[in-house]
Amino acid sequence: MKILGVSGSPRKKGNTVILLEEMLRGAEEHGANIELFSVSGKEIRGCDGCYSCLANGECHIQDDMQPLYKKLMEADGIVFGSPIHFYGMTAQAKVILDRTTALTRPDKNLSNKVGGVIIVAGSLGLIDALKDYYFFFTVQQMLPANFVGAYALMKRDAKKLEKGLKAAFRLGKEMVQLVDKKFEFPSEFRRNYFAFGTHTH
Ligand SMILES: Cc1cc2nc3c(=O)[nH]c(=O)nc-3n(C[C@H](O)[C@H](O)[C@H](O)COP(=O)(O)O)c2cc1C
Repeated sequence: MKILGVSGSPRKKGNTVILLEEMLRGAEEHGANIELFSVSGKEIRGCDGCYSCLANGECHIQDDMQPLYKKLMEADGIVFGSPIHFYGMTAQAKVILDRTTALTRPDKNLSNKVGGVIIVAGSLGLIDALKDYYFFFTVQQMLPANFVGAYALMKRDAKKLEKGLKAAFRLGKEMVQLVDKKFEFPSEFRRNYFAFGTHTH
């Protein structure tokens, strides 16, 4: 079993990474193989809307998203972590979600993977990012796990969050427990990931 942590923080060793690492420690202690991917220092460009990925599941933009596609596909459980930047997830974190449009093919998708979230805010915006991630899980037919919402501002502040660190560790354990359930959406649920047709006509 593989649990992947994906950090959308531009800080290399910031609060999001601290909590993701604690989550991964919890997952590893309960038997998972773990990996952390951070956007820090990486180049991941915005989706250009060409839609060529819908035909073949491949994104033509050759950047640091390419190795991440592979990691996302290999993972059984993914915990997305992001700090709040201007009342929502970071631009880097959002670009990753946009670029997963390439992973919405019948034969190449994120369905049935377990999804968890870690959000770090200085003050406001936790819920805004959380709702975006949980909507993403719904659209991608992933199984939603729990989330950790933490308040921290300066770079290493999360180290002081006794409850937050415990919650992150527990999230790692719960990711393993949920993956172990081998949950699967009924195959007839496979659908067009775009909502066209459900409410427009
Ligand atoms: C550009 C920028 C915008 C931010 N906007 C918000 C915000 O709208 N709301 C908030 O609560 N914190 C905001 N913060 C604070 C960060 O969420 C906080 O510093 C967090 O701990 C950073 O996590 P990291 O160390 O994982 O990057 C902002 C920080 C930056 C750099």
